Amino acid sequence: MIKDSDMPHPVSANNPCPFLRALVSMGELSDKREPLAKVATVVAAMARTGDGQPVLPRGAIYAVEWTGNGLGPLSLFDTHWRGLRLNALRNGPLDKKGAGSRLLNTDGTINAKQVERPKSFAEEKLSDGGVTELGLGLSELRAYMDANFARAVGRRRLVDRALMLGEWPVLLKVMGKEGLGGRYLSLEEVIELFKGRCFPERMNKRMDKRIAKK
Ligand code: HEM
Repeated sequence: MIKDSDMPHPVSANNPCPFLRALVSMGELSDKREPLAKVATVVAAMARTGDGQPVLPRGAIYAVEWTGNGLGPLSLFDTHWRGLRLNALRNGPLDKKGAGSRLLNTDGTINAKQVERPKSFAEEKLSDGGVTELGLGLSELRAYMDANFARAVGRRRLVDRALMLGEWPVLLKVMGKEGLGGRYLSLEEVIELFKGRCFPERMNKRMDKRIAKK
């Protein structure tokens, strides 16, 4: 029987981060407010379910989160003491407002036109299981990020290119597959993360095991 708790949880359109959207959708994080320490713990735990058990420094996650809802002293104070509002990240300091992939529309739906774009940066990759698929390694991701930044000329901030380093390369570290030619993100899995708000099955299984052990 399907229980309510098994259903994907609704995610605010004002949360533009595919990683956090998936964590809300699977019920690991609230769509509203969460203490910074909890977000850091859940993000780090999900990361550990990736191939090779990637470790993300909790301090760095914490620092990013702290700035997510605003950089003013009141905002920083509020976020520090009362937590991160996951449903109020859009238009915050980390929102690149179109200087990123544009894979998500502002209403949280997938942008059908943009979904085709990463395909032109992807290369055929050979997984360690001998399967060939389209994927993005670090050099393809660099080219994709450069192109995203370049097309936003006139409406981008310098910091936007630096912010990208905490997004795609970190996603590669967490959700990447160890291919025969190096680590890569499966294009299919990236689209599923943005569109379906879910992590690859192998990561979900490991997460379930971790929860069952508790
Ligand atoms: C393992 C942790 C994380 C990973 C792998 C990750 C990855 C990503 C990726 C791939 C994007 C899409 C960028 C694009 O569309 O070009 C993104 C966007 C975003 N992330 Fe995360 N993220 C993580 C944690 C966080 C945290 C903790 C926050 C906290 C506030 C956050 C806030 C955002 C925001 C606001 C955006 C939208 C940026 C834009 O306008 O393009 N992310 N993230």
